Amino acid sequence: MTSNAIEVVDVSKRFVLSHAGPSSLKERFVSRSASPRGEDTDLWALKGVSLEIERGETFGLLGHNGSGKSTLLKCIARTLRPTTGTIRTVGRVAALLELGAGFHPELTGRENVSLNASILGLDEAEAESRLPDVFGFAELAGFEDTPVKHYSSGMFARLGFSVAMHLEPDTLLVDEVLSVGDESFQRKCLGEVRRFQREGRTIVVVTHSADMVRHVCDRAAVLDHGELQMVGPPPAAIRTLRELLNKRGLEIPREMGSAANLEQAQAIVFTDVQLRYNDPQRPWLNPGDPLEIVVSYDASQPMDDVAVAMEIHDSGGNRLLGVNSDLLDSAPNSVDGTGTVVIRLESVPLLGGSYSIALGLHNHDVSVSYDHREEAASFRVENSTPLDGRVQIPVSIRW
Ligand SMILES: Nc1ncnc2c1ncn2[C@@H]1O[C@H](COP(=O)(O)OP(=O)(O)OP(=O)(O)O)[C@@H](O)[C@H]1O
Ligand SMILES: [Mg+2]
Repeated sequence: MTSNAIEVVDVSKRFVLSHAGPSSLKERFVSRSASPRGEDTDLWALKGVSLEIERGETFGLLGHNGSGKSTLLKCIARTLRPTTGTIRTVGRVAALLELGAGFHPELTGRENVSLNASILGLDEAEAESRLPDVFGFAELAGFEDTPVKHYSSGMFARLGFSVAMHLEPDTLLVDEVLSVGDESFQRKCLGEVRRFQREGRTIVVVTHSADMVRHVCDRAAVLDHGELQMVGPPPAAIRTLRELLNKRGLEIPREMGSAANLEQAQAIVFTDVQLRYNDPQRPWLNPGDPLEIVVSYDASQPMDDVAVAMEIHDSGGNRLLGVNSDLLDSAPNSVDGTGTVVIRLESVPLLGGSYSIALGLHNHDVSVSYDHREEAASFRVENSTPLDGRVQIPVSIRW
């Protein structure tokens, strides 16, 4: 017996794209070099992907648009068959694929839930007994007998999520749907994901959100044009994806914390980061020591719509602090050319360990990220206290 919930072995998936052939003179002219008339072309959405996901693990799938994330998830869910290779899963697998996938538009909410339940092997009585919970959680009480074609996209997403959670699968596959719906429902979903994690279930989640990967996932994989680039801890995966997108000149989704617009992105960049310790002879901290982060930048034009953001993470990728200059009411009047900004931490109440600093430059409404360094710098804290753990909390004990 292995401890793996999912084993993907050398999986490739080919789609055959058939071309009807250009019809107009202009189309024929334009498409001449692309594909000859009427010929089929192969598209390899996955190429030799192998990975193992352990039981109880929360695993993220990252990659640019069209990199094969959904295809891989569908292969694991068995809604698609790999062209070559094998996939083994253990226990009951429930999948939340595209919005509305698995729902029949003409059927009512109630009928769809029963259908989904029977596919997963629940009998009618079992399914019936869970209906109130399913619709309650989805905030859809009263809509049980409405055909789902009349549901809004938010209602679809809520019902899909609720069904998947209430079927109590051993493994849950989620394709980006956590980003649908309003914020309060997203929080509720995240709460359920946490419960699943505590209960030791396995979760595979496709996401474009760096925060999601960092806060929720134990490990993540990066796909690039159907090929697996790396599998590793969330910060490393996020970094790999950013580098890949940068290299290819692809747009970096805003949620990845980097530029939506590369031209604007280059308006101001980091050129250097130095850490200033109290005692330069001692380049580490003791709990409670101050620390200055001296950030050098280069702005290619005068600009005032800029803020600097900083995060501190522990070695497990947990975000310990997040702050930006706007939150502290310290926006610059204007920056132009080279300069420095000093971020001063009056006291760092952390215990022993190594910590990394992420830095970002973005505009005030955070719609444009000019530059972002996931691991701009790191520092070490030597524990000089009798306390154990992560945070220095003053404590005394009285009998
Ligand atoms: N049913 C299909 N028929 C033909 N090509 C397909 C099919 N499904 C996916 N593809 C192609 O396979 C490639 C991978 O698609 P996939 O949907 O897996 O990407 P993705 O990483 O999920 O992208 P996104 O971030 O946009 O959701 C793309 O080039 C896509 O056009
Ligand atoms: Mg997709």
